[in-house]
This record gives sequence, structure tokens and C-alpha cells, in this order.
Amino acid sequence: MQHEGVMFHLQKATQVTSGTDDTSTLRRLADAYPYPQVPASPPCLTRPYVRANFVSSIDGAVTHNGKSADLAGPGDKAIFRVLRALADVVLVGARTATVEDYGQPSPDDVFAHARNRAEQTPAPALALVSRTLAIPADYPPLAHPDTVVLTCRDAPADTRRELVAAGATLIDCGDDTVDLQIVLDRCAERGWHRVLCEGGPSLLGSLVTEDLVDEVCLTTSPHLVAGDASRIAHGRRPAVLRDMHTELILTDDDGFMFTRWVRTGRTSD
Ligand SMILES: NC(=O)c1ccc[n+]([C@@H]2O[C@H](COP(=O)([O-])OP(=O)(O)OC[C@H]3O[C@@H](n4cnc5c(N)ncnc54)[C@H](OP(=O)(O)O)[C@@H]3O)[C@@H](O)[C@H]2O)c1
Repeated sequence: MQHEGVMFHLQKATQVTSGTDDTSTLRRLADAYPYPQVPASPPCLTRPYVRANFVSSIDGAVTHNGKSADLAGPGDKAIFRVLRALADVVLVGARTATVEDYGQPSPDDVFAHARNRAEQTPAPALALVSRTLAIPADYPPLAHPDTVVLTCRDAPADTRRELVAAGATLIDCGDDTVDLQIVLDRCAERGWHRVLCEGGPSLLGSLVTEDLVDEVCLTTSPHLVAGDASRIAHGRRPAVLRDMHTELILTDDDGFMFTRWVRTGRTSD
């Protein structure tokens, strides 16, 4: 259909069978969400590829009762699992990690062979972003060898000492603030070229403002929420306008919609 030079594409969304234990579905999903080729050097990537994954209600809320769990469904959990299985590192705001009781990402048998073939570690690393280091010292993933805390030199010295004593690995990415460009430099130094940002909205807002987001995988949950929940990206700095295009639209039997939005001008495979 065409109207005044605009072409409308009647696109039937691809159906995906719900059910997180269906190995072939998981592998088909993985094929639908490729990261670009690594190593990260021209003409491929000049910095790590940043993919974000979020779930929101139809009206844009990312939480219900302060957490995202009520918005999720089996299909969303399958996509979440697949995106983790493809990533080198899960990048997450410390607030999200603690509010959502994040554990260390664990190896996934379904993708063990693929990760080995891609020369990836059995599970992605976990990178927590925090300026204030407001992370409980007994937060379980903190002492794990594959967890790092990306912070800045001016973070409170006593908290630094406390977290280091608890076994945390702190990496400074700036002086008085966490510089997200430096965050990606540090990721690249560790061989983490496939970055998966799982939120929250403050962290994604900063990444968008800095023009560091290459892809957004968005689950639209079949609910209306209203209230005062955040949307997927927000921040205090002036709004920007970044061009993205749809790379993929999927639906499942439960009425969820999964979209994959890629930065215009950058292909993911
Ligand atoms: N629906 C979804 O898909 C989804 C996904 C993730 C999270 N959530 C929800 O979102 C909420 C948390 O989100 P949030 O926006 O409050 O926090 P957030 O984005 O998870 O956390 C921001 C964290 O990043 C740190 N930070 C350090 N430098 C930063 C920088 N340059 N830019 C941005 N952040 C920086 C802040 O640390 P300091 O405070 O130490 O400075 C803060 O802890 C939770 O309710 C969670 O359930 C929903």
C-alpha cells in the first residue's frame, strides 16, 4: 500500500511457540538475534556492540509494583535466556541488579557448544554500573570472578574498601562519574564485544544520550498499567532523536510482541 510516497508493508509477525524448554525454538531464536561479527576491528566493529533488552507494558511502563516480573511471560523469558546466551557480558545498573535480585549468569547447556565454537566463556560476565557503590557487601554475585563493578575514582573510599574486602573487582571508568565510553573501552579490553544491557532506564537513558546504543530488543507485554512507572529510557539530560529501524517482529501465543530495533546505518550481521 502506498500513500503520498509512503510505502506501507502489511507484515504478518512471525509466531514463536511459547515454552522455554524447546531446544530447537531457542536455537531458532538465537539465529534471529545475531550479533555482528567479531573481532571488533574495522571494517567490522570499532567498539563493542551494545544491545539492550527490555520489557514494557503497552503503555510503556517498565515495572508493576516496582519490578518487571509481572510484565514478563514464558516467551519473554525465552528471549531473555537466548540474548544472555549470545552475549559476552551483561551490563546492568547496580540499582536494577539489587532491586531485581540478579544472580550471576549461569552456563546454559543448550548453547554450550555454540559458545565454545564462538570462543566465548561458558556464561556471560556480569558488569554492574555504579557511581555511588550503593551495593550491599553481601550481594552474592559481587565476589564472583566473572563479576566486575564499573565505577569511578571519586566513589566513596570507605565503600570501595568494603566492597574490595568482600571480594569485588572494581574498575574505574572516569573521575567523578562513570563515563560510558570508557565502560565500553574496558569491555573491549576484556574481549567483551557483545554487550547486553539489561537496564535499567537510567543506564539506558545515559547510553542513548551518549549515542552508544546499537540495538534495542523490546518485549511489549499485553498489559496496560498506567501509574507512574518509568519508560525504558530516561534521564535528566536533554532529549535526543536517534534513528532506529525494525529488524524483526515476533509474537507468541500469549499475546506478547517482541521487536528488534537496530540503529539505522549499522547492520547487525
Ligand atoms: N522492564 C524492564 O525490562 C526493566 C529492566 C531493568 C530494570 N527495570 C526496572 O528499573 C528500575 C531500576 O532502574 P533505574 O533507572 O532506577 O536504575 P538503573 O538504570 O538500573 O540504575 C542506574 C544505576 O547505574 C548507575 N550509574 C552510574 N553511572 C551511570 C551513568 N553514567 N548513567 C546512568 N546510570 C549510571 C547508578 O549508580 P549510582 O546510583 O551508584 O550512581 C545506578 O545504580 C527497577 O525498578 C527495575 O525493576 C526494568
